Amino acid sequence: MPETADLLIKNGMVATETAVFPASIAIKGGKIAAIGDAAEMPPAAEEIDAAGLFVLPGVIDVHVHFREPGMDHKEDWETGTRAAAMGGVTTVFEMPNTSPPVSTAERYRQKRAIADAKAVVDYGLYGVMSEDNLAELAPMAEAGVIGFKLFLGNTTGNLPCPSDGAVLEGFEIVSHLGKRVSIHAENSPILFWREDRLQAAGRNTAMDHLLARTDVVAVEAMVRSCLFAEWTGARIHIVHESTARSLPYLEFFKSRGVDMTVETLPQYLTLAVEDMDGPLGNIMRMNPPIRERWQQGPLREALAKGTIDMISTDHAPHAPEEKVGNRIWDIACGFPGLQSQLPLMLSLVNQGLMPLTRYVQISSANPARAFGLYGRKGVIQPGADADLVLVDMARRETLSADKLVSKGKITPYEGMTVSAWPVATLVRGRPVMRDGEILANPGWGEEVVQQMPPAAPRNVETQLGYLCGASPAPAGDPS
Ligand code: NCD
Ligand code: ZN
Repeated sequence: MPETADLLIKNGMVATETAVFPASIAIKGGKIAAIGDAAEMPPAAEEIDAAGLFVLPGVIDVHVHFREPGMDHKEDWETGTRAAAMGGVTTVFEMPNTSPPVSTAERYRQKRAIADAKAVVDYGLYGVMSEDNLAELAPMAEAGVIGFKLFLGNTTGNLPCPSDGAVLEGFEIVSHLGKRVSIHAENSPILFWREDRLQAAGRNTAMDHLLARTDVVAVEAMVRSCLFAEWTGARIHIVHESTARSLPYLEFFKSRGVDMTVETLPQYLTLAVEDMDGPLGNIMRMNPPIRERWQQGPLREALAKGTIDMISTDHAPHAPEEKVGNRIWDIACGFPGLQSQLPLMLSLVNQGLMPLTRYVQISSANPARAFGLYGRKGVIQPGADADLVLVDMARRETLSADKLVSKGKITPYEGMTVSAWPVATLVRGRPVMRDGEILANPGWGEEVVQQMPPAAPRNVETQLGYLCGASPAPAGDPS
């Protein structure tokens, strides 16, 4: 008889990115020890009966904002990761637009100390790439950031958008570090120009927010980012893809072999600017904006078929009073998403948008691959971390602000019905949520272990670090 396992999840339907099959999962030391027929499993100290439930790899969300340090009236590391646990999310990558922003290795270490003490799920931390911190990119990579965040468009925190010169040099540097740059792709000069013009003309409605940041604002910044990535060999990730008009360009740059991944968000697939006339309109203000309803179809299709690689939340909580105001321009951008991604997306699965296997791919396997976690996370296989979510695929629930554990208790999904619900979340074998109750103590969450493939810089003989003597002679592909 094999040795005793710590925990056995039995009678569930296991869903991977290739198959859905009945199986039991034995867990030992926080890792998956065995998968198979219940009769073949070792004895276990504890058991969870998953009869009638699906067992998926835990969601990996590469785009969340937890606001601590500096804005913890909006969210903190404990409330943010509790929201993750409630939503079936076992790993989060947190953005650097806190106060102060994570722009140095020292600030990264300071935030890591906070996260380490408070998180109930696993995490990675981004460092920011900005005009004045290019010399800090390598030290931040060395210290352990999961990747870099580049704000090309202005948003919460008002981090100034770097010039194209600084961005290209930033990409040159990152091309040697191998880490991925996650890009908020909106053209800042255009959006500021248009906001000023619209405000001066007295236009203050929710629709005007969309018109300030109309599609070309996003498409141009995305195309520019892809060009710079192709030239330098920097790895990139396009965050919150919001427009169907990007899709042909994404396909073009992918076909050219650019090392890029793309995410979209449930809000672009389920909400529309037409809804912004209603009572929840202001809450929907976010960047890039929620667009016309016709865009949902092509974006959904692109996510199902592969032009878009993954689903994230852009969990962007604000205090409820920051989400009200007379003019759209006065309303904070963003809203919570960690508790609604899985129910909303699995409702689309139930409606036939994509098979459950593809959902596993876009919510867990692909994020793990893009950021060098795959194998340890993002997969149900022996040896992997036992990061799992148990889902009732037939449970109807109504989304509402009073169910949110985030501090941002306000949601544009108020009253929306979903047809699937996470009932338990396990991080490294330990239940952190069961039946809507948080079980883990702050500090259970750990920083993830990342292993990116070797860097592949290009056009190194043209790079400023080399030409200006700060870095050694070129060693990459001299294409
Ligand atoms: C985000 C936030 O509030 O930090 N807001 C948003 O509207 N998406 C920032 C961001 O992801 O751009
Ligand atoms: Zn953004």
